[in-house]
Formats: sequence, structure tokens, C-alpha cells
Amino acid sequence: MDGNGRWASRRALPRLAGHRRGAEILEGIVEHAGELGIQYLSVYAFSTENWKRASEEVSGLMSLFEYYLKNKLERLKSNHGRLRFAGRRDRLSRSLLEAVENFENETREETGIQLILCVDYGGRQELVDAVKKIIASGAEIDSIDENTISQSLYLPDVPDPDLIIRTSGELRTSNFWLWESAYSELYFTDTLWPDFSGRSLDEAVAAYAARDRRKGGVRVEQY
Ligand code: IPE
Ligand code: MG
Repeated sequence: MDGNGRWASRRALPRLAGHRRGAEILEGIVEHAGELGIQYLSVYAFSTENWKRASEEVSGLMSLFEYYLKNKLERLKSNHGRLRFAGRRDRLSRSLLEAVENFENETREETGIQLILCVDYGGRQELVDAVKKIIASGAEIDSIDENTISQSLYLPDVPDPDLIIRTSGELRTSNFWLWESAYSELYFTDTLWPDFSGRSLDEAVAAYAARDRRKGGVRVEQY
């Protein structure tokens, strides 16, 4: 969800105003994604590298996450949505972690869209954590395969993403779903995240639907 800062500075507003706007528009996007039949929507809200930002910005973002987690439970639940978390949990404040875990527990049985909140998430960190889990499990070296790694990531039951959308014109994926995105379709748009809309999502999904996903294979009719 990139571009909040630029959205704010273009309006001579503080960066946090951009983050606030970005959080507000997410609600409508989640609901629209649910209407489209999307089963999993993950949002990269804060990366393992974002701690480098000014402390006011970091604490403002953390307060925003906590505010949303504490106040938006009913709305997601009424849409049968389920909240999942991906990231390191050990560097979050106790109150934020409690809000995350409460939201996860309260929506565990919901069968609608799964909203995956990535906070203090980094793909490389996720792989480091996976390696630690595998070593701690005492796995035989020769038994380790790709499936062992997939099953040791943060959310082993969640399928790899079909489509990754990056807003704000940057052409990279910045440590997002590093392992899981091996075959994801990438979609880049210049739209800044606070300007992203249901229509923007429709456009991304239409672009995705027009792609030919072979995953290393060849379509039968091409032989
Ligand atoms: C939001 O956009 C991403 C978060 C870390 C919340 P940015 O804050 O990166 O916005 P720009 O890139 O400065 O415009
Ligand atoms: Mg940015």
C-alpha cells in the first residue's frame, strides 16, 4: 500500500494524514474484494525495514493499526471476514499484539474473505524464521524439500498469491511474500494508495484475468 506519504505531501499535509487516509480506504477495498469473490487479500502495512523511519511516523502507524484493530472488528465480522497476521510478533507493543490476537481469535471461524495484515513483515525474515523452525524440529537434512519450507512459513495454509499489486509507480516488490510470490502475477500502477478504489481493483483483476499463466508449462494447444 505505497504512496501515502506522497499523497499527503502533495496536499501539504503531514505524512500521517496520508496513512490515515490509506487506512480509511482499505475498508472499502476489502469489502469490494469480498464482493468479487477474492478469498485472500494481504496488505503490506509495515515492513521489517520501516522501523528506520522517524519515530513519530512509526508510532503514528502503530497507533493507527491498533485503532483499526480495536474498532473495526464488528464490520469485518458482519461481512464474515477473517483477520490473519503475518510478521514478527516479538517487536510489537503488548497492546498492539493483544489487539491482533483478539481480532484473530474473534474471527477464526469466519468463512468469508481472509484479510492478511502484514506488519513487521519481511520475506527474508520469514525465511530466517522458517529455517529456525525446521532446525528446531530436528528434521533430517535429506528430508527437507520445498514443501518443508512452505509449511514452515507464517501462514502455511494460505495459498500463494495469484496477483500482487504495487501502487505508487515503484517497480519492485520490496521483500513482500518472497517465497510465496515465485509465480505471482505482478501488477504495477501509478495510483497512490490513498487514491486506490474499487475500480482500481477491478482494473488490476481484469489485467490479471487477461494473462496466460503457464507456471513453466506449455498449454496443450501450443503443441
Ligand atoms: C505507505 O506509503 C507505506 C507504509 C509503510 C505504511 P509510504 O509511507 O511509503 O508513502 P511514500 O512512499 O512516502 O509516498
Ligand atoms: Mg513508500
